[in-house]
Amino acid sequence: MKHLLTLFELSTADIERVFAISKDLKAKLARGIREPLLPGRVMAMIFEKQSLRTRVSFETGMAHLGGSSLFLGQDVGFGKRESAADFSQVLSQYVDVIVCRTNAHAKVEDLAKYATVPVINGLTDSAHPCQALTDLFTLEEVHGKLAGKRLAYVGDANNVAKSLAVCCGKLGVEFAIAAPAKYQFDDAFLAQLKHEVPQSKVTQTTRPADAVKGAVGIYTDVWVSMGQEAEEVERKKEFSPYQINAALMKQAPASAIFLHCLPARRGEEVTDDVIDSPQSAVIPQAGNRMHVQKGLLAWLLGAKV
Ligand code: CP
Ligand code: NVA
Repeated sequence: MKHLLTLFELSTADIERVFAISKDLKAKLARGIREPLLPGRVMAMIFEKQSLRTRVSFETGMAHLGGSSLFLGQDVGFGKRESAADFSQVLSQYVDVIVCRTNAHAKVEDLAKYATVPVINGLTDSAHPCQALTDLFTLEEVHGKLAGKRLAYVGDANNVAKSLAVCCGKLGVEFAIAAPAKYQFDDAFLAQLKHEVPQSKVTQTTRPADAVKGAVGIYTDVWVSMGQEAEEVERKKEFSPYQINAALMKQAPASAIFLHCLPARRGEEVTDDVIDSPQSAVIPQAGNRMHVQKGLLAWLLGAKV
C-alpha cells in the first residue's frame, strides 16, 4: 500500500513519474480533455484546519478524473468517537483514497497504519508534501531540469520548508534557507534528511541576501502557521528582517521566480510589489496544485496512464 505522508516515501523516479503524468494531464486539460482515469473512485477528505487550495484542487481534480469526493466534517468524529484503527479500517472499506489535513503528524501516521487504501497528507504540522511537489513542478516548468540549481527559502523552517527540502534533495536541487537561528531546521529533521536523502544539499544562514544568491526560485511562507497564533507577536518581531521585498529580490538573479504556497500575509513575509510583480509565479503555482494532485491520484491509484 502506497501512502504519501511525507516526501521521504517517494523515490526520485516516483516524483519524476508523477510530474510526467501531471504534465500530460495539464496539457490535455488545456485542450479541453478531461480523461476519466479514475471512474467511480471515491476520495474521502478529512480537514481539521482551514483550506482553499488543497481542498478545492483535490475535489476538482478528482471530478476531472471521473471520480467523486466526500468532504467529511466534524460529525464523523475523526480522533474523537472511536479508535484510529476502527475509524481507518471502516473508512477504507467505503472509499479508494483518503486525504487528511490535521495538526499532529502522528494522526496521519495512525490513519495510514490501519488504512487499506492510500492516505495522502494534505498538511500536518511537520509536512506538506503535495505543496512541495507542486512547487518543484512549477519551478521545472519555468527553469527546465532542476538538478544542480538552487531554491532559496526565506522564512520559517516549517511544514512547507521541510517538504521542500526533501523534494529538493530528491531532485538534486540545493535548498538554501535563511531564518533566525531559532527558527531554522531542527537537528532531528536534518539527521533524518541526511540519513534518508544523503545526496541532499541544505544550507542554513541567518542572512537572506546569501540564500537568494544564484537561486532560480525565491520562496517564502507565513511567519505564523495555523496553530501557532499564540506565538504571533514574537514571531513577527523575529522574522521582520526576513521579509521578501524589492531590495532582497535585487540580490537574486533577474530570472528567479517568486514562490509562495499561499495564503500570504501581504506586508509581512512579502511585499505587494514582489508578490504582484512579473517575477511572481504564485497564481500559476496555486493552479498547479490541481494538475499535480491529479497526477498523484492517478499514480497512487494505479490508473492506466
Ligand atoms: N497552500 C495551501 O495548502 O493552501 P490552503 O491552506 O488554502 O489549502
Ligand atoms: N505553513 C502554513 C502553510 C499553509 C498552507 C501553515 O501550516 O499554516
